[in-house]
Amino acid sequence: MTILHIDSSINGENSASRVISRSIVDQLVIASPEPELIRRDLVSEPLPHLTLDAFADTSVLEEFMAADTVVIGAPMYNFTLPTQLKAWLDRILVAGKTFRYTANGPEGLAGGKRVVIALARGGFYDAGSPASALEHLESYLRGVFGFIGIQPEFVAADGLAIGQEQRETSIAQALGETVRLAA
Ligand SMILES: Cc1cc2nc3c(=O)[nH]c(=O)nc-3n(C[C@H](O)[C@H](O)[C@H](O)COP(=O)(O)O)c2cc1C
Repeated sequence: MTILHIDSSINGENSASRVISRSIVDQLVIASPEPELIRRDLVSEPLPHLTLDAFADTSVLEEFMAADTVVIGAPMYNFTLPTQLKAWLDRILVAGKTFRYTANGPEGLAGGKRVVIALARGGFYDAGSPASALEHLESYLRGVFGFIGIQPEFVAADGLAIGQEQRETSIAQALGETVRLAA
């Protein structure tokens, strides 16, 4: 099984999404008979903003298509995803490759792949809460992966900016959830 591990947090060793995505990968590697691990750190090796010329380089898309499972560390910055991760998605959503338009509407072509996303958010964005209208991370990722035929799974650590105790509780809870993902 080929596992593609992507991170996009700028917070290095203090990153919650990196800790959680690493734990997800560790669990999947333990559960996989022949794991092959591919690493893409979008902060230490950022992809440039999309340009027309960039479409000519399909290496990022090919790496994604070749993976059986994709694990993504996705922190919330300014209510949405880091621009580093957006630049990666800009290489993944390609008409004719991962989706196509048909007479019946758009059709995803990348189904059959497992995508597990580690979310890290400073606040709480539960449905019905005052901040829920600003949640453009999980909702966006669910939408774009759904568009290409994948229903992503999420492990979320929320309320990380509220205080140290809440941060430790949320991260511990998320790490506990990663165990069940490999079951
Ligand atoms: C530049 C920046 C912007 C942020 N914007 C938000 C935000 O809009 N909403 C929120 O809930 N938390 C926000 N946070 C808090 C992060 O989501 C939180 O610190 C989380 O732990 C980030 O994940 P990471 O530790 O993996 O980088 C922001 C943090 C940074 C550094």
